[in-house]
Amino acid sequence: MAFASKILNLLVIVIAGFIFVRGDGSAGFTQSKAAYYPNSFQQGNQYGACEYGAFGATLNGGDVSAASNLYRNGVGCGACYQVRCTNIKYCSKNGVTIVITDAGASDSTDFILSQHAFAGMGQTADAGTALLALGYVGIQYRRVPCNYPNKNMTFYIDKSSNFPYYFAFQIWYQDGDKDITAIQLCETINLTCKLLERSHGATWAVGYPPSGPLSIRMLFSSDNDDTDDKWLVSANTIPQNWTAGAIYDSGVQVLI
Ligand SMILES: *[C@@H]1O[C@H](CO)[C@@H](O)[C@H](O)[C@H]1NC(C)=O
Ligand SMILES: *[C@@H]1O[C@H](CO)[C@@H](O)[C@H](O)[C@H]1NC(C)=O
Ligand SMILES: *[C@@H]1O[C@H](CO)[C@@H](O)[C@H](O)[C@H]1NC(C)=O
Repeated sequence: MAFASKILNLLVIVIAGFIFVRGDGSAGFTQSKAAYYPNSFQQGNQYGACEYGAFGATLNGGDVSAASNLYRNGVGCGACYQVRCTNIKYCSKNGVTIVITDAGASDSTDFILSQHAFAGMGQTADAGTALLALGYVGIQYRRVPCNYPNKNMTFYIDKSSNFPYYFAFQIWYQDGDKDITAIQLCETINLTCKLLERSHGATWAVGYPPSGPLSIRMLFSSDNDDTDDKWLVSANTIPQNWTAGAIYDSGVQVLI
């Protein structure tokens, strides 16, 4: 009897395994198309709509992309996606993980990848070259957590900032797969805060920022509804004498 039930168990496992293997492994993926930037964008993209500048050229080893709908008016800047092409002759199973740095579409694509990322979807370097020759391929994609080992989230003070009139900054190296939907900029001595909105691209900006050392509170989107939104507060402050173009460590990172 025990033996028979063991056989039965084994059979169930085998059948379950069979069903699993037979699935095409595309659960959670969305079907779409991708193209790539013309010649000038071998690596990243420092001219993208997210306005990452020189940071965008080296970000994620050059595996970056423009997005159409997923750009979401700048909210999508910095989001990470796994993108894999579907041509079984050339494409690897895992594809590439890219970071959104720009807005754009071509022929109903969701992504216009850097050449580096586009070729990176190939099984080999030769397969990558063959993909580049195709120029435009069917893909599957899904959002995945960004992961910057040994990096805290970092505040880059935009060059346009000018005390005491205007304060603009970007957040670099944000781990995870959540969006920052609002920011509070708080002066740490008198605790006066201003609510910021995304201004353009990845940039948050405010006129007449509070003076004094600044603490930044970030509101993260939840998976389901607004009730689960979470604030994360920077551990380090931006010093009172902040300068345009400077980079400050937030002292915190999103747990993934
Ligand atoms: C805090 O408030 C006091 C009194 O209103 C003011 O004099 C001071 O400048 C403020 N400090 C900062 C850093 O804003
Ligand atoms: C800002 O102030 C700190 C001390 O509070 C000082 O160490 C630093 O050099 C100053 N930075 C600039 C750019 O003036
Ligand atoms: C991140 O911030 C913490 C302080 O909260 C600090 O101890 C750590 O050194 C920082 N990590 C890096 C990589 O800068």
